[in-house]
Amino acid sequence: DWTMASYRNDAIARIRQQVGDAKVICGLSGGVDSSVAAVLIHEAIGDQLTCVFVDHGLLRQGEADEVVAMFRDHYNIPLIHADEQSLFLGALTGVSDPEVKRKTIGRLFIEVFQKHAAEVGGARFLAQGTLYPDVIESVSVSGGPSVTIKSHHNVGGLPEKMGLKLVEPLRELFKDEVRALGRELGLPASFIGRHPFPGPGLAIRCPGEITPEKLDILRKADAVFIDQIRKHGLYDDIWQAFVAILPVKTVGVMGDGRTYDFACALRAVTSVDGMTADYYPFSHQFLGETATRIINEVRGINRVTYDITSKPPGTIEWE
Ligand code: XMP
Repeated sequence: DWTMASYRNDAIARIRQQVGDAKVICGLSGGVDSSVAAVLIHEAIGDQLTCVFVDHGLLRQGEADEVVAMFRDHYNIPLIHADEQSLFLGALTGVSDPEVKRKTIGRLFIEVFQKHAAEVGGARFLAQGTLYPDVIESVSVSGGPSVTIKSHHNVGGLPEKMGLKLVEPLRELFKDEVRALGRELGLPASFIGRHPFPGPGLAIRCPGEITPEKLDILRKADAVFIDQIRKHGLYDDIWQAFVAILPVKTVGVMGDGRTYDFACALRAVTSVDGMTADYYPFSHQFLGETATRIINEVRGINRVTYDITSKPPGTIEWE
């Protein structure tokens, strides 16, 4: 793709010009955006770049291992794997307001990056995989009044005191363009095709208070849902799919006994850029089979619902 080949070269030149010989740290989330940003920046400035992968305790099953293996072993990009689970989960205890969750997570990300920027020997830049839709969604509803929908933690500039400047080489791109750039940079197809995963992670798929128990249940249910989607060959037809655990317990019956466990919602949407989305029209057979598997395989869930809201009026994530 000649467009992306020239975009790549221009972006590399701009990155070199912006950072000179300074050190850069890049926050990796495990998603496509930050991965593409990291590989692009590494191409531009080599080992002036150190990636920081923050495990905030809100990742999906197996995610930390996959990301670390990919970057450290496959790409050989210097990577700090920061285990900050107790920092984040501690600060989120008792928090149920979605914006407070996002702001808490955003603030802690900055603290953790700041700490590592110092460790790396005085990084002066922080790189992020911010995309164009992230930029506009945090500012206004397109065409409408200026209203903040959700504060995406990875935009909005950094507090002055952080003393790091932003490098955001994907700021003009839409998701499909980032994927094309990723292919241009030689990222494996399996990585490029990964569904987006938000920076605040499972926190915004766990409405109400976040507890280790709920996170554990959520991870297991999510893994079953994604496994079902892959087994049925639907993964690449779907923009994003996940489970949200609801802050409500309901009564069920299992064998001879009564159960009183959490309800969950399956969410799967099609979309081109995440700005608008339609719910995915699974067959009833698929939905029934998935519900049965989740209830049988995941202790703690006894009811499964399917979210059939499009965006707008809904958003993709639950918070
Ligand atoms: P919503 O829920 O706003 O999500 O319809 C649109 C897309 O953005 C992702 N998302 C985020 N990504 N930081 C991110 O990096 C965030 O704070 C954030 N919030 C939502 C969401 O997963 C979907 O792909």
